[in-house]
Amino acid sequence: MNMDFESRREHCRQSIEAAIEQLIPPRTTHPKRIHEAMWYSLKAGGKRTRPLLLLAAFELSPSKQDPLPAAVAVECLHTYSLIHDDLPSIDNSDWRRGHPTCHKQFDEPTAILAGDALLTQAFEILSSRYQDVPNVTNELVYELSRAAGSTQLIGGQIEDITADPQTLTQDQLTFIHRGKAAALIVASLTMGVILSAASDAVLEPIRSIGLDVGLAFQLIDDVLDLTATSALLGKPTFQDKVTAVRLYGLETCRQRAKQHTQKALAACSKIGGNPGFLMQLIESLESRIY
Ligand code: IPE
Ligand code: IPE
Ligand code: MG
Ligand code: MG
Ligand code: MG
Repeated sequence: MNMDFESRREHCRQSIEAAIEQLIPPRTTHPKRIHEAMWYSLKAGGKRTRPLLLLAAFELSPSKQDPLPAAVAVECLHTYSLIHDDLPSIDNSDWRRGHPTCHKQFDEPTAILAGDALLTQAFEILSSRYQDVPNVTNELVYELSRAAGSTQLIGGQIEDITADPQTLTQDQLTFIHRGKAAALIVASLTMGVILSAASDAVLEPIRSIGLDVGLAFQLIDDVLDLTATSALLGKPTFQDKVTAVRLYGLETCRQRAKQHTQKALAACSKIGGNPGFLMQLIESLESRIY
């Protein structure tokens, strides 16, 4: 892989880490237990895919706004969704980001509350960090709340836990993948564009790119659940029951992920501005091994 890209991505990741540390209440803040749990899950690792996508979309046409608070907000929201996804009553997962899950490290009530706190934190950051541009704040809050709500992320999660793997249809699976993975990826890219100097004409193509990237992302997540090791993934394997692999088989999943990625890349090459980093990032997601 291109070293320039990798060092660029690493540089962005470090900025994201530093911004997380700045924007979350210190772990010693009273009540210490909740702040420790929030930090624990946020800083346990994680690829930072969504904040990276937000930064890459911002780079299409950078403005004087700072995209990092929005990137942190998206990562807070994503981390909340993982903490709750891992709970005994949902996926009952003991391992996340290479560490015991939040409810294992602390306890279930603390994990529920840490998730609640991170969800809320996301909107506190968005509503406080862009006060000089109220319209932008409004658009960011709307974008993220819509993606995280009952028709998208939560909608995908409820369908995921209630679907019968034996009778799963393609339409049902696509709804689940759109909700549980693509929604937040679409929101991340769109929020990057909202903060950038790009014209509103970019919003529609970026949403469609986000949908393809998000669907490819979840197809690969389903493939890796069967083909990768839990050591590499940092989470248990053979965990998911409602998966694309069950419906299409491994090879077709890989091909579908490739098709979505190629479609996203073709759209990026026509979007204008500086799509280089975004395109490299999208390509790297398809070939990821964890
Ligand atoms: C896992 O997301 C949940 C899905 C929507 C597939 P990631 O694979 O981005 O998890 P982290 O953030 O790197 O831990
Ligand atoms: C979780 O999907 C998606 C959300 C948290 C919204 P999965 O259950 O497939 O994620 P992993 O495999 O546990 O990371
Ligand atoms: Mg799940
Ligand atoms: Mg899970
Ligand atoms: Mg999964």
